[in-house]
Amino acid sequence: METARFNRWLLARTVKPLLFLLCLLPAFWLVYGAATDQLGANPAEVLIRSTGDWTLRMLCAVLAVTPLRVLLKLSALARLRRMLGLYVYFYVVLHLLCYAWLDMGLDPSDIARDIAKRPFILVGFTAFVLLTPLAATSWNRAIRALGAARWQLLHKLVYAVAVLAVLHFFWMRAGKNNFAEVQVYAGIFGALLGWRLLRYVRNRRI
Ligand code: HEM
Repeated sequence: METARFNRWLLARTVKPLLFLLCLLPAFWLVYGAATDQLGANPAEVLIRSTGDWTLRMLCAVLAVTPLRVLLKLSALARLRRMLGLYVYFYVVLHLLCYAWLDMGLDPSDIARDIAKRPFILVGFTAFVLLTPLAATSWNRAIRALGAARWQLLHKLVYAVAVLAVLHFFWMRAGKNNFAEVQVYAGIFGALLGWRLLRYVRNRRI
């Protein structure tokens, strides 16, 4: 009964715009903080790191949709997945732009050299490259053009992105020997991907 009511609530017209605004809030907050000089002594670092954190959080949210939909029988959650996926891309583009602008002065040769030199940047950049076709094919026309089966196969790339994202974070924090948050995200992604693997194995056995 509660599930049916929650599903109905998720289908309400206001839910999508509300989620849209909620997901935009961190970006708005960062822009506001930067404009009003409230990001502390090193605003560039705060901007790069916060946008990286929000990319990771959005990735958790998008990967949580299917398990929550299946386990809690919340079928209406599926209509929010595309927006969450596009927010992953929105935050990674902001993260990349902050890095390219504030760390590298928008110099393409410096950026290319840095990507080649620092493995954790290369891993992050690879995750960004893999996310690009997913964002580019998130529209109905692209789904129709690709065909559902090929589209689904392509979108499995998100699992590789999750692994690369945790590796990027781990490698970045390894220099500082600070793994507390990395462990939390690795645990969340491990549970989300592990649940899919278990479901896949179980479905194949039937
Ligand atoms: C899916 C892709 C990506 C994810 C999920 C991600 C996530 C993160 C996270 C969580 C952090 C650490 C934030 C913290 O310490 O609180 C970070 C830091 C960073 N990332 Fe990414 N990132 C991604 C892609 C990229 C790309 C494409 C670049 C640049 C080419 C990049 C460059 C950096 C840099 C420079 C830092 C900060 C390092 C420092 O302050 O020492 N990341 N990223």
